[in-house]
Amino acid sequence: MSPFRLTRTLPEDATDAALRSDVRTGLTGTPKWLPPKWFYDARGSELFERITTLPEYYPTRAEREILVGRAGEIAAATGARTLVELGSGSSEKTRFLLDALTGLRVYVPVDVSESALTGAGRALAAERPGLSVHALIADFTAALELPDTPGPRLLAFLGGTIGNLLPGERAAFLASVRALLAPGDALLLGTDLVKDEEVLVRAYDDAAGVTAAFDKNVLAVVNRELDADFVPDAFDHVALWDAGKEWIEMRLRSRTAQTVKVKALDLAVEFAAGEELRTEVSAKFRKEGVRGELAAAGLDLAHWWTDREGRFALSLSVVR
Ligand code: AVJ
Repeated sequence: MSPFRLTRTLPEDATDAALRSDVRTGLTGTPKWLPPKWFYDARGSELFERITTLPEYYPTRAEREILVGRAGEIAAATGARTLVELGSGSSEKTRFLLDALTGLRVYVPVDVSESALTGAGRALAAERPGLSVHALIADFTAALELPDTPGPRLLAFLGGTIGNLLPGERAAFLASVRALLAPGDALLLGTDLVKDEEVLVRAYDDAAGVTAAFDKNVLAVVNRELDADFVPDAFDHVALWDAGKEWIEMRLRSRTAQTVKVKALDLAVEFAAGEELRTEVSAKFRKEGVRGELAAAGLDLAHWWTDREGRFALSLSVVR
C-alpha cells in the first residue's frame, strides 16, 4: 500500500460562496444560465459515469481507444515522473497512462468531486506499490497550486472537458496551465471533434434519458445547497448544436410559467413557459483551432492523435 494523501485547496466555504455567486449571477441573467461544474455532486458524478457507458456517448470510448494505442508514445515523448490529471473523476482511463509511464513516481488527481477522488485515489494507491497518490480537491478553472513533485510533469486534461469552458475561460485556463509547466513538462489534452450534427445531439440527448437526469441534477444540487424549491420534472432537457459556435448546448426548458425560490439567496426567479436555462456548453474542435489556442498560450502542438473514426483527438504539447 503506497501513500495516499488528500488535500483540499477548495475550502467548503469557498465552494459555497462560488455556488452562491454563480447561482445569483446565472439565474438573474438574461438568458439564464448555470456553470456545468455544479453537476458533479455524488449523484451527478455517478450519472456522468453512466453517460460514459451509453451507446450514444462515444467520446469516452474514442478517447480510451487513443490512449490504449498511444500510451507508449506518450510515455516515450514525456518520460513523466509526475502525472497531474485535471478533472480526473473516476480515473478509469488513467490506468492506461499509469501502466505505460514506467518512470512514474507521483499521481496527482485533481477534481471538485471529493467522492470521485477518494474512491479512485485509494484504490490506485493500494494497487500500485511505488506510486504516491496525492489527490487534490480543487477547481482547476481557478488558480491551481500543485504539490512539489519530481519532474518532468505530464499534465493531462482528458475527456474533452476543456470544451465545457467558454472561449475566454479556455484561453485563461491554457495560460494558467502553461504557467504551471517548466521546460520538459507536457500537456496532454483531450478534445472532442466537430462531426455530424445528429451524432453530436444524440450523444447529449440519449434514448434512456440518463443525460436528461444528469442535466436536471444541477437543480437538485441548488435545492439542497441553497434551499431552493426547483421541481426538476417541471423542466425538459434540451440538447442543441450551435453551428456558428461549434458547440453543443444543454438547456433546461421550463414546462410552465413558474416561480422558483432560492431561500439561501433570498431570491425569487420567474420562468416564463418555454423559457430556457443554459446548463452547459460542450465545444467541439478542429485541429487548427486547437493548435491556435495552444499557441496563444505559448504551447506548441507536438502530436495529434485521433481514434480510427476521427471523432476525438488527443494532443500533446511539450514545453521547450
Ligand atoms: C466529459 C465533462 C466534457 O461535455 O461531453 C456529458 C460532460 N455533459 N454529457 C461533455 C457531459 C453531458 C462532458 N465532459
